[in-house]
Amino acid sequence: MNTQQILDIETKHSAGTYAKQPLVIVRGQGASLFDVDDVEYLDCASGHGVANLGHAHPKIAAAIYKQASTLITLFESFPNDRRAELMKKLASLINGLDRVFLCNSGTESVEAALKFARISTGRKNFVAAMRAFHGRTYGSLSATFNKKYREGFEPLVPGFSHVAYNNIEALAKAVNEETAAVILEAVQGEGGVYPASTEYLQAARRVCDERGAMLIVDEIQTGFGRTGKMFAIEHFGVIPDMLCCAKSLAGGLPMGAVLIGQNIKNLIPGVHASTFGGNPLACAAALAALTVIEEEDLSRQALVKGAYLIDKLRKIESPNIREVRGMGLMIGIELKHKVATYLSALQEKKIIALNAGMTVIRLLPPLVISYGQIDHLVDVLTEVLAPELVSVEA
Ligand SMILES: Cc1ncc(COP(=O)(O)O)c(C=O)c1O
Repeated sequence: MNTQQILDIETKHSAGTYAKQPLVIVRGQGASLFDVDDVEYLDCASGHGVANLGHAHPKIAAAIYKQASTLITLFESFPNDRRAELMKKLASLINGLDRVFLCNSGTESVEAALKFARISTGRKNFVAAMRAFHGRTYGSLSATFNKKYREGFEPLVPGFSHVAYNNIEALAKAVNEETAAVILEAVQGEGGVYPASTEYLQAARRVCDERGAMLIVDEIQTGFGRTGKMFAIEHFGVIPDMLCCAKSLAGGLPMGAVLIGQNIKNLIPGVHASTFGGNPLACAAALAALTVIEEEDLSRQALVKGAYLIDKLRKIESPNIREVRGMGLMIGIELKHKVATYLSALQEKKIIALNAGMTVIRLLPPLVISYGQIDHLVDVLTEVLAPELVSVEA
């Protein structure tokens, strides 16, 4: 089948909830993706931050193959060697977060954390941030701020309020004795790539402690080396009561997790469960992924390459750029215009990137991206962001 035939089938038979790109990807290798005609693209999206290890990593492929030939599925009521190993590993990552709930996606990990906060505190309310994105199922959607995701789906879960991000006063005012939890991203991703300030996250911890509320940090996009540490909270010296993660946890296989601290109580059998959660196949892939992250020191790679890339981006002389910001290899280029035209121009030049809101180009390349590929990306961005090359929308 050629590109058009494949596109036609997906357009006809998909639910219709995705705007389809006119580009059929069939294969990946490292930070590269290849279309049906074997044309190479530089992947600066990583499947929305999933492919931190790069595509087709041999150790992930081998672990999946081995476990698939051994045991794929097992409900969590029955213990399993791979799952136990993974739980032990995850419990060792952040001091104090030594219990784990395993699920299959980011939104599921947020749903679980919200339920755990309510059952633990007996309280109903949640405080989230403006611009926040936490997922698209009802609990996580209620924590998500942007009208674009929420409209048409009301009534959402009651009890959620949103306050300005990085505003300590607003947060302190919103959290009270009825707050079950505060939920925050360490770096807001979909909302435009805005890192939290250290003072803000530390104040969030303090306010939650004072008022008996739980602190949930959503590291679904920032986790597993993306920002230059295994988890972004390590930059801030803050330990939440629950940490939500997913995306790159199992090297590309669907998996989510909540890492849980001592303040979370009442987690007894029957409180929550998931048919696929903790299946041995995903656990084996996650173990391999965590091993690769450590062996290849991917967090450090993200830190150093991210600093290199941000420095180069800040040197681009373009009247279209308002600001370059980010942490590690989670980078936003805020433009003075809408980004759609620029993303199309990048794709024409074989670079796949993302937006974050209307005006931010978001770069989430695999952490294994090479310096040669980074230099190429900067060259293409310089060209595309030159004012005369792209029609400028108001
Ligand atoms: C910060 C954050 N939270 C939650 C989610 C939802 O994850 P999923 O799409 O796996 O449900 C995402 C996905 O982009 C995210 O970036």
